[in-house]
Amino acid sequence: MSETIQAHGGTLINQLVEGNAREELLQLAATLPVITVNKWTISDIDLIAVGGFSPLTGFMEEKDYHSVVESMRLSSGLVWSIPITLAVNQARAAMLEIGQQVALVGELDGVVYAILDVRSIYTADQQNEALKVFKTTDSAHPGVQKLFSRPNTYLGGPIQVLNRPQPEKFEEFYFTPAETRQIFVSKGWKTVVGFQTRNPVHRAHEYIQKSAMEIVDGLFLNPLVGETKSDDISAEIRMESYLVLLDNYYPDNRAFLGVFPAAMRYAGPREAIFHAMVRKNYGCTHFIVGRDHAGVGDYYGTYEAQEIFRNFTQEELGITPLFFEHSFFCTKCGNMASSKTCPHDKAFHMHLSGTKVRAMLRDGICPPAEFTRPEVAQILIKGMKEMDASLSESQL
Ligand code: ADX
Repeated sequence: MSETIQAHGGTLINQLVEGNAREELLQLAATLPVITVNKWTISDIDLIAVGGFSPLTGFMEEKDYHSVVESMRLSSGLVWSIPITLAVNQARAAMLEIGQQVALVGELDGVVYAILDVRSIYTADQQNEALKVFKTTDSAHPGVQKLFSRPNTYLGGPIQVLNRPQPEKFEEFYFTPAETRQIFVSKGWKTVVGFQTRNPVHRAHEYIQKSAMEIVDGLFLNPLVGETKSDDISAEIRMESYLVLLDNYYPDNRAFLGVFPAAMRYAGPREAIFHAMVRKNYGCTHFIVGRDHAGVGDYYGTYEAQEIFRNFTQEELGITPLFFEHSFFCTKCGNMASSKTCPHDKAFHMHLSGTKVRAMLRDGICPPAEFTRPEVAQILIKGMKEMDASLSESQL
């Protein structure tokens, strides 16, 4: 077997154009109308290019968009829970026609990332999109806020990708799905569990990862490093913390670190499905969904991101979700546990909110070792100090 698992939809998509064909398309792009794209859209383009978003070959056309919003499926019936769309302002769209090609150009760097074949131009009901995808229209929700900040005219169609964004740091941890699939095979892993995170790996994360590692061949630690909300800990600091943890507490040949360059949507349950499908594309056979996966504030129930999987058969998903209850250190058990394994009163369970942990780290205080490994805490404290210092410098 040359790979662990089939891509979503059966084929790992590759929209990257190389060699002479790329040169020709670059020349063509110079003659096309330009749509400027921001960092978020560039990360979508890149994930489409390398097949992270297989079976998508471009931005969603109207019928797929409606189908995804209303029923968590593409119009083909394939499971897909998050719209992947290209928003443009209405005046710009009015100058375009179906059948035309446009160049997608980075707004800050002027790089021609892709050529889009415009197959669909449509107006989105963003209130409805917010309600269906995020389960709220509250603009205090970071995903809804982002959605409402975009124009509501969307362009859909396949893209041909001519350039990939260059990572500024940790380049060695960027892999395409084709590469991770190859790596898993070369490690002899037949079963691989994917772990999504936008946080440092605390003891609870480690506990659920290692519980999963007891039953699969390898762990793909796949932290999201695309756009996150401003009070999440930056990807750079987190990467240092993952490396120190892997070095000290994980067997070399059982865990593999590679980044997930997508933007965080904070769509809770729907994002859990999306995260699972994308990790399948990277070659994972299993995917961890713990408490309040991809959630924010109190918008989603603790286990809603697990319950949503019931809407689909195992066959449709093609990847096995591994569900974990809320985990904690129990001082009476003397180890990590969940309500499935610990009989003791809550008073013995160590709980710290993300906000509280960030505040401690900012003040240079290590959270208890039962919550965060001291090696990890040290990196986070140092990283946050440096970040604060560079922020205040830039404000001078
Ligand atoms: S997320 O937004 O990327 O989901 P986070 O990085 O905190 O946030 O979580 C990564 C994964 O660990 C998710 O599957 C989440 O449900 C799970 N998780 C986080 N904390 C716990 C916990 N205390 N107990 C069980 N699962 C957890």
